[in-house]
Amino acid sequence: MSDKEEILMSQTQVESDQSSRIVWQHFFGLAIILSFVPTMFEFEYSLAFEYLTHKTLHILGGIMFTGNMLVSAVWMFFARKTKDKNVILFTSKTSEMLDRYVAAPGIVLILFNGILMASLFGGAWETQWLSEVVARFVIVTGIWILYLVPKQKAITKGVQAAVDNNTDLPETFLSDSKRWIIWSSVVVFFLFWTVQIMITKPTGEF
Ligand code: HEM
Repeated sequence: MSDKEEILMSQTQVESDQSSRIVWQHFFGLAIILSFVPTMFEFEYSLAFEYLTHKTLHILGGIMFTGNMLVSAVWMFFARKTKDKNVILFTSKTSEMLDRYVAAPGIVLILFNGILMASLFGGAWETQWLSEVVARFVIVTGIWILYLVPKQKAITKGVQAAVDNNTDLPETFLSDSKRWIIWSSVVVFFLFWTVQIMITKPTGEF
């Protein structure tokens, strides 16, 4: 096989990987939106396990999502300071992998167990502390899916090119990574605030 054919084949492979990833992201987003629909109509789900098992899985999901966001932001903050392309690339790629294998399953655990439990409280819209939590959850997952994940990928791509071609880090790296760290911190703040609401249930409706 000629070099040209090999390059074409690897380009086709990259394009098909990218499109399957895009399909996966849309499916994930759609599943999140659709799963809220029955709770809007006060539909009561039957629990798959004991209530406390759902609650444990829900809290585990919260730890996975919040922990991942916090550690990735702190890690990127210190990696940036080294100005070492290889350290930054390793951090960025690991953070991408953690998004896929820790944050995304964490979101699924929070969502599905949270919605099952919420249906026993009359649905997410019937109880004020629950609707406040759902609103925060939609905001943070929205920031994560629409801004943080794509930006993370763009940062990795730029740094990877700098390492491969032995050039300087992309000009936009410092501002992009700074913005990425700031928005990750906003998400962490919202998640901590959500934990506080979930535990104190401020309106006393429990
Ligand atoms: C779709 C969004 C969410 C829904 C519908 C939801 C729903 C619920 C429900 C119904 C409970 C049970 C309350 C009880 O048994 O007294 C609960 C507990 C809890 N949730 Fe959520 N939740 C959501 C998001 C989150 C998030 C994002 C976090 C944290 C990052 C979180 C952390 C917790 C914690 C720590 C508890 C235990 C509270 C306690 O036992 O006092 N939840 N959640």
